[in-house]
Amino acid sequence: MADNLLFLCKAGDLAPNSVRKVERPEGALAVYNLDGVFYATDDRCTHGLASLSEGEIIDGEIECNMHFGSFDIATGQPRQSPCSVPVKTYRIELRGDDVFAVLD
Ligand code: FES
Repeated sequence: MADNLLFLCKAGDLAPNSVRKVERPEGALAVYNLDGVFYATDDRCTHGLASLSEGEIIDGEIECNMHFGSFDIATGQPRQSPCSVPVKTYRIELRGDDVFAVLD
């Protein structure tokens, strides 16, 4: 197993259009299932001390539950103020039913 892969979840364990937090010492990630396609971003909102995985998925965006700014889940680009700094995204690698994030 390449050591730049972080196991996120089993594909079947994350329902479509839901998000889950994955802890790691360097900072948690959020893993998303958008209609069967997986994405990952940093979990921490770039605007403040909020966890994006506690937000709501709306039309491919994650809405932060702190001040209701949002990001495009696929690109990490801010979509709604007060968010203005992109959130880091991670490439996903699927191995069978296992979903991994590729860490740079
Ligand atoms: S902390 Fe996320 S919008 Fe402010």
